[in-house]
Amino acid sequence: MSAADPILDAAIASLEESGFRRDVASVALILGSGFGAIEERCEASAHIAYEEVPGFARPAGTPGHVCRLSQGRLFSRNVLVFRGRYHAYEGFASRELVFPVRVARALGASVLVATNAAGGIRDDLLEGSLMAITDHINLMGINPLVGRQRLTHATAFAPMAGAYDPSLLDKLEAAAARAGESVTRGVYAAVLGPSFETEAEVRMLRGLGADAVGMSTVPEVICARALGMKVVAFSLITNRAGSREDSHAHNLSRGSNTEGRIARVLEELIQSLP
Ligand code: HPA
Repeated sequence: MSAADPILDAAIASLEESGFRRDVASVALILGSGFGAIEERCEASAHIAYEEVPGFARPAGTPGHVCRLSQGRLFSRNVLVFRGRYHAYEGFASRELVFPVRVARALGASVLVATNAAGGIRDDLLEGSLMAITDHINLMGINPLVGRQRLTHATAFAPMAGAYDPSLLDKLEAAAARAGESVTRGVYAAVLGPSFETEAEVRMLRGLGADAVGMSTVPEVICARALGMKVVAFSLITNRAGSREDSHAHNLSRGSNTEGRIARVLEELIQSLP
């Protein structure tokens, strides 16, 4: 356990001034690329742009990424909703990537629900598939727990085995089934990006045991686990990894076409969380 962090304290103080309340929402939801509009379904009692919160980096402004934190009722639960995330490929330091997770924890969230877009590697993970993340392979070359000064309340040598909570994974599958979606389990490899993978890299990732590849989520999951949060995460497969027509715009549009599907799964999942 390490000393208090004045920047985290300043963030919480400023959020409380903006109407956020501690210990009201036990669930924090991170909406990945293309799913941001789900945040608009939240009956927010408080919301704030990331850049107005002390300690939050100024978002890089990738097209399609509105970055805002809300607290309120979403799918009949009190939730903290992070619309947009920081990516390492935008040049953010690993501590900046995970500051939102630390804030969620400090506000009292004990469960992190993370969503992302990913490229399918396993043969059955075609465009439009949903993959429940059972495990990850961190190939980003960064780790948010690195640093001479530890993250407040974080375990430095946090175990990552079992990072994706088995009982929440079951709940995610059941939620998807109720939403009329099939979700298959798989391993998510995180790379730095922002370029997509070569064909040789996709073969390598497959050989390493990855079922899908993306450029996010793993830093947040590492931080959440080090802070003792439970994690459940899933990917929307927006393209086959290594396909020659990959583009960010393409991925975003796939994301928004399928936003309704993701929202239904999240609704069922969030309602079933403890
Ligand atoms: N590779 C890496 N990240 C991604 C991809 C991909 O093919 N698709 C969506 N995010």
